[in-house]
Amino acid sequence: EKVCLAYSGGLDTSCILAWLLEEGYEVICFMADVGQEEDFEAAKEKALKIGASKVYVEDIRKEFVEELCYPAIQCNAIYENVYLLGTSLARPVIARAQIAVAQREGCVAVSHGCTGKGNDQVRFELAFYALQPDIKVIAPWRMPVFYERFAGRADLLEYAEKVGIPVTQTKSKPWSMDENLAHCSYEAGILEDPDMEAPKDMWKLTVDPRDAPDAPEDFTIKFEKGLPVKLEYENGKSVSEPLDLFLVANAIARRNGVGRIDIVENRFIGLKSRGCYETPGLTILRSAHVDLEGLVLDREVRALRDQFVTYNYSKILYNGLYFSPEREFLEDSIRASQKSVNGTVRCRVYKGNFQVLGRSSETEKLYDMSESSMDEIGAFAPQDTTGFISVQAIRLKKYGNSKLEKGER
Ligand code: ARG
Ligand code: SIN
Repeated sequence: EKVCLAYSGGLDTSCILAWLLEEGYEVICFMADVGQEEDFEAAKEKALKIGASKVYVEDIRKEFVEELCYPAIQCNAIYENVYLLGTSLARPVIARAQIAVAQREGCVAVSHGCTGKGNDQVRFELAFYALQPDIKVIAPWRMPVFYERFAGRADLLEYAEKVGIPVTQTKSKPWSMDENLAHCSYEAGILEDPDMEAPKDMWKLTVDPRDAPDAPEDFTIKFEKGLPVKLEYENGKSVSEPLDLFLVANAIARRNGVGRIDIVENRFIGLKSRGCYETPGLTILRSAHVDLEGLVLDREVRALRDQFVTYNYSKILYNGLYFSPEREFLEDSIRASQKSVNGTVRCRVYKGNFQVLGRSSETEKLYDMSESSMDEIGAFAPQDTTGFISVQAIRLKKYGNSKLEKGER
């Protein structure tokens, strides 16, 4: 029987590969290129050497940006006020590409190296079942035959040695990482103590803000219907294609140290976990989008969207429910909310900070300079506000009186 394994080239998935072969499976390895820094050729060779019958490397960067990162920008997606969902965003496209390979190869099962304590197992498997309901999932880290045998790293290394898995010389870092175009995450290992400061040399995508250039860097982002359509930078250069634009936003943010966070978050399964994440380009694009909405988005649409759509869309992504009717429903409402989000934001990054220098819109006229001005009356009738305040005060006066009567004021 054939199984399609999500392979990373690392020790864990290499041992899983050897173990699946030992269990009598034929193994097709799958690697997704979501923009992580990776020697795919070396990993491919390694998998073949261990005994994989085929290795697929699929470049899914474009769909990752267009189908996941862009809607996330468009609705300001964020989890627990700080996490921009970098890992969560990549999972749906990776799972979809893996299922496509499994189908092409006639695999009866898919397998992965996620631990039994995390979010990723949930995300991958819910996606697998939504996309191919009859697929079998082999999750070795949840199978006693596997985790009892490979209780620690030493057991994995010993097994690797025994079955001839080349253990790459690179000294393993004392934390676990997950990288893609949108972000790099660092968790576990020495980071498990939430009070232990992340080492300076841990961060790989962004420069330390303290070492960032002494001169600010300015650029301009143009949005249409809430999506970035043009990024102008370095006095005259510009990009428009989503993937190219995203890569330029990344480059600008990375060299200026923008997008680092360090949090303790609540995982779907109920555990708390500490994570350090850097999300360079997405931080810039999202912040510029948030700013433009201030100028062009109706107050009540914005409030409803914030309370309902942004919150739930982010939670759906975090919890791995991307392939669901509720995600489709919310994406329709994201689009509906963004019809007026057209305009340009002038931005600056400087030593880890993102700043807005100005914003404008040629088409949207919700903001009226003379109406909002403190220096002129315009079409506004000041005496109308007296009545507005009296009516708003009816309830509060009653409340104030009852407090007075009870002696609470
Ligand atoms: N805690 C983050 C999340 O759940 C990051 C997960 C990183 N995944 C990994 N396999 N290292 O989205
Ligand atoms: C894992 O447990 O496999 C990584 C972390 C997570 O999925 O939350």
